[in-house]
Amino acid sequence: MATERAQWGSKLGFILAASGSAVGLGNIWRFPYVTGENGGGWFVVIYLVCIALVGLPILMSEIMIGRAAQRQPVGAFAALEGRRTAWSGVGWLGVVAGFIILSFYIVVAGWAMDYTLKSIVNFTGPMAAEARVEAMAYRADTPAVEMRETLIDAETARQFREVEKEITRKVRPSAWKAYQEFESAVAKASNAEHARAVLLEDAALRAHVEVAQPIAAELEAAHLSLRQRVSQSFDALSEVEIRDRAEDFTRRSAIRSRVEAAFGAVAGDGWITAIWTCVFMLLTILIVAGGVSSGIERACTILMPALFLLILVLVIYGFFMPGFREAASFVFKPDIHELRPSGVLAGMGQAFFSLSLGMGALITYGSYQRTKRGLAGESVTIAAMDTGVALLACLMIFPIVFSFGQAPSAGPGLVFMSMPLAFAEIGQAGMLLGAIFFGLLVFAAITSSISLLEVVASYFIDERGWSRRKATWVVGGLVLLLSMPSAFSYAPDSFISGWTASYGSNFDFLSTMDYLASNWMLPAGGFFISLYAGWVMPKHLRNAELEGLAPALVLGWLLLVRFVAPAMVIVILMQSIGILDADELLFRGG
Ligand code: TRP
Repeated sequence: MATERAQWGSKLGFILAASGSAVGLGNIWRFPYVTGENGGGWFVVIYLVCIALVGLPILMSEIMIGRAAQRQPVGAFAALEGRRTAWSGVGWLGVVAGFIILSFYIVVAGWAMDYTLKSIVNFTGPMAAEARVEAMAYRADTPAVEMRETLIDAETARQFREVEKEITRKVRPSAWKAYQEFESAVAKASNAEHARAVLLEDAALRAHVEVAQPIAAELEAAHLSLRQRVSQSFDALSEVEIRDRAEDFTRRSAIRSRVEAAFGAVAGDGWITAIWTCVFMLLTILIVAGGVSSGIERACTILMPALFLLILVLVIYGFFMPGFREAASFVFKPDIHELRPSGVLAGMGQAFFSLSLGMGALITYGSYQRTKRGLAGESVTIAAMDTGVALLACLMIFPIVFSFGQAPSAGPGLVFMSMPLAFAEIGQAGMLLGAIFFGLLVFAAITSSISLLEVVASYFIDERGWSRRKATWVVGGLVLLLSMPSAFSYAPDSFISGWTASYGSNFDFLSTMDYLASNWMLPAGGFFISLYAGWVMPKHLRNAELEGLAPALVLGWLLLVRFVAPAMVIVILMQSIGILDADELLFRGG
């Protein structure tokens, strides 16, 4: 090849670019919402364990492979092996995964751009004003007794979630589910008694119902007594206090439903989403076409720390919100009973996604670096920054979520539905903070999306001899094409609506792509990368990369990369296939 391969400007440049790739929507958009969907606590622990035992060693492996081969993933394995082998398939898997991830990534990044502009025009300002009026009106013409009931209901519902978990844990999850389906079928039937009798003729179902029924009764009793207790705790409050609280409660619910509706409006509008998606893709293409290091490295040095600082400020702000305690215990207090194997799968997927692992993004980035030093230190730095931002993002979002009575399990819209609430609460300055926040989020997304496009484009550059320009425009265009079904996936009555109708509401097109790539392709890629680095990679090449590292460190890494990481991935993939139903396996008692 005539032209010299691109290189990072410096060692720091590499670290910045790699952590720029790692820190992105995965930390601020994906991590909090997946944590919320998986019940917090244990999910976070599992994620951290996966980062340490699976992510970190594979992170080192990817950088190592890239540096040693000086090629992008498809070519890298061939270069190291001295000929094309089946290992090149790992590179191919990565190219395809990168293509898929980028296709939905740019849709979410597009929403972030939309929210940047929205924040500049202070879209929550009028919502906050309306909510305030609505709450005042409520205060003016609602009797205090009624307010009291509303507050008691809300507080009971809030506390009941814990109680419910505690009690339903006594029965096998599958039995409980069968029982719930049974009850809802009976409730729908025109002749309930008859339906009950007929359904119970099924012996298996009857067995489930028999164990579940007492639990359901216990649940009801617990609800009643909880409500009584909550009601008593309201006795001490004066009427004015009740009114104050009720007004605030109404105001918060009113603004929450407006902010949630605003997200529904963008996500539900396929064309608006598609336009922002195009804009974001265009930006990514322009940067990647311009070459590896120029600009991005420099921008990273200022904007990444700025994002970090702003998140820190917002965490401190959240510290003073009423929901902070609940948020902190949601994120950091693992309840052993909540250990969900389905959460293990999600935690592993999240670790891969967040560290940009499993598809060769870091092979590619490593290949633009020639030094053979500092592998372990660099890897730890990248992983630590990424994890730190992810945890802080949770501490930033969940106090808001709990203060406004939002559901932690709100799904992919979580960051867009929670952050504006805080900005609205802050008022005029909040508008500025909102614009800066979403602006920096867009930037963080760009530093990640360029790494995704880079992997796919570099295949055509390195292996097919295309010019950088041609490769980025062609690949970018194709990605944009595949992104359209994702952009329209939340729009009612669009060309892709049939997808959600047939795959189920959790698997709209965007989520399906995410699931496919993050939970399957990345772990699979990571599995092979760790096996390659641990067992197959020529020793002298590996040792050259590991030079200067303490022998204990090298041994630890080898252990992880040879045994621990691949084993963990395999177990989790088996769980995904359903060979292991760990929700059932882990069921204690009964
Ligand atoms: N890690 C990035 C984020 O957290 C996303 C990302 C960039 C990525 N490159 C990747 C994910 C490669 C998987 C593989 O937003």
